[in-house]
Amino acid sequence: MFEELAPKYDFMNSVITFGLYKKWQKKLVEQINPKEGERILDTATGTGDIAILLSRKKADIFASDLSLNMLKIAKKRSIDEKDSIKFFIDDASTPKINNLDAITISFGIRNIPNIKKTIQNHVECLKPGGRWGCLETAEPENPLLRMFFNLWMMIMPIFAKFFKAPKSAYAYLRDSVKTFPRLEMMKKTMEKSGLKVIYAKELFPMGAILLIGEKSEISKRQKLN
Ligand SMILES: C[S@@+](CC[C@H](N)C(=O)[O-])C[C@H]1O[C@@H](n2cnc3c(N)ncnc32)[C@H](O)[C@@H]1O
Repeated sequence: MFEELAPKYDFMNSVITFGLYKKWQKKLVEQINPKEGERILDTATGTGDIAILLSRKKADIFASDLSLNMLKIAKKRSIDEKDSIKFFIDDASTPKINNLDAITISFGIRNIPNIKKTIQNHVECLKPGGRWGCLETAEPENPLLRMFFNLWMMIMPIFAKFFKAPKSAYAYLRDSVKTFPRLEMMKKTMEKSGLKVIYAKELFPMGAILLIGEKSEISKRQKLN
């Protein structure tokens, strides 16, 4: 699905969020607060927005995705940052790089079947004190706002058809949001997966959540010793 969507992905994001997704992505990077020389992995990087923003803070960025077409666009878009971002194909649920200062996943975790296991795997790859940042589309906690949000989601596939983007991708968005945990549930899942929640908010005007967690300075193994 993402292979087919890739050429229209950035344009459709602007349309369906009225350009707000750029602000949300900047907020994720601000909260992750990358520092010069840090090792950061952006999983499910797509067309590379987060990787590019992170690399501008002079961090060393690894950026992975399962879609080759997405990665091709990401590489083209990051020509100025080519020395600080390493793009590669990988499954976001099982990252292969360790000793990381931070991991980000933006509009990616909803596509992964086992969220808890994925976060646990991410925590394993972080240094003690490492940060985990997640931006995702999610139903608002407030029932009235949820109703408006779901109405908007229902017309999404029609929008996609109008703009000649694959309709099925936006029907998938509408349906997957229904089963994706909302903010409070995600906070619990993070805590159960080994993260201390340090930031968790629904972003204006709702429909997106931003979560930041921190891996404990003392690992479980050290506690046992
Ligand atoms: C909605 S896009 C998000 C892209 C980008 N992170 C952003 O903020 O715009 C979701 C991306 O997740 C990728 N993806 C889906 N499942 C994945 C998985 N299991 N491992 C790695 N990437 C995955 C897709 O190929 C797609 O590029």
